[in-house]
Amino acid sequence: MQTVISRELGEWAVAHRRYLHQHPELSGQEYQTHTYIKQHLEALGIAILDYQAPSVVGFLKGTDGSKTIALRADIDALPVQEEGEKSYLSKVPGVAHACGHDGHTAVLLAAAKWLSEHQGQVKPNVVFIFQSSEEREPSGAEALIKQGVLSNVDAVFGIHLWQPLAKGLIGVCHGPMMGACDEFKITITGKGGHGAMPHETVDPVYIASQVVGGLQSIVSRALNPMQSAVVTVGKVEEGSTFNIIPNEAVMLGTARSLTEETRQCVHKQMQRIVAGIPASFGAAGHMEYYWGTPAVVNDRQQSRYVEEVVKAVFGESVYAADMEPTMAAEDFAFYLSHCPGAFIFVGMGGEASAYSHHHPRFDIDEAVIPSAIELFVQLVLRFE
Ligand code: NI
Repeated sequence: MQTVISRELGEWAVAHRRYLHQHPELSGQEYQTHTYIKQHLEALGIAILDYQAPSVVGFLKGTDGSKTIALRADIDALPVQEEGEKSYLSKVPGVAHACGHDGHTAVLLAAAKWLSEHQGQVKPNVVFIFQSSEEREPSGAEALIKQGVLSNVDAVFGIHLWQPLAKGLIGVCHGPMMGACDEFKITITGKGGHGAMPHETVDPVYIASQVVGGLQSIVSRALNPMQSAVVTVGKVEEGSTFNIIPNEAVMLGTARSLTEETRQCVHKQMQRIVAGIPASFGAAGHMEYYWGTPAVVNDRQQSRYVEEVVKAVFGESVYAADMEPTMAAEDFAFYLSHCPGAFIFVGMGGEASAYSHHHPRFDIDEAVIPSAIELFVQLVLRFE
């Protein structure tokens, strides 16, 4: 192991994490968190760049400065009532850091502390992105990128403390890592009437069931079997009682995919099905498709760099060589569609982190915090 950070820095981060955990704020409303981060960065002598609050962007000048590396943490919490026994439970009813973004914030603060205290060893410039609103639209990442946060950045890295990956492992995918997340609303308009006289009606309930079946053929029939996607209809609304055929059926759902090509293929086939199946029964199908977060696709050169750093710093066995992508979404995708970089999972699954992200009893395993700080620091120190 060639680690540089001290045990004290890890403890420093844990203390900040617990404070943030007790004071969670919802997406777009992280103003106290904003002030907290800003004050600590200023105390470290890190310049605060002019970006719209509640995001905070810090800047540290490197000794060489010909390259610039950006490190990102998300800072928002979720509308979840936290459950459990720990001493530092959320003090805000109905709001909790149930995804671990308190940990991300503390990790990046600690990395900023180490790097600012060892500025003489830091060659590239470093941009510290504390990003608001990861969990909800509008995306804080998209807003920062529009304001120019990635101009002059050569590579961007983000870490998620990740419960599905076992503690002790750190993983990165070479290429697609997390899914694009789109939403859709499909309306089928038929002709209502008496449940005993279907021949006088155009039954949107029956047609909707055909459309649901049709949508499930996309992954099996339209898509290359080597590609991955999910189409889920999560809500169907139709009719009022047992003997009336309604006029209309409405369906809500989500489509997930790992590449832009797959995403476009799924969308195109959905349009055909939504138009074609209802038309064959004399009904009208209409789809509103909402393009959400794109897929997180790591730059292969940068993900190889992460792999190298993980193996060199923590040892070969820490690198999760066979980690698979997930269909969960992350707005870190926006950074990667503008700049080379990589998103990294630091595994923490085990006894101390046994509940999934977003669960009321979710907790991060604080024992992995030092590794996450070390990784951010080393990605900067070894960057060329
Ligand atoms: Ni998250």
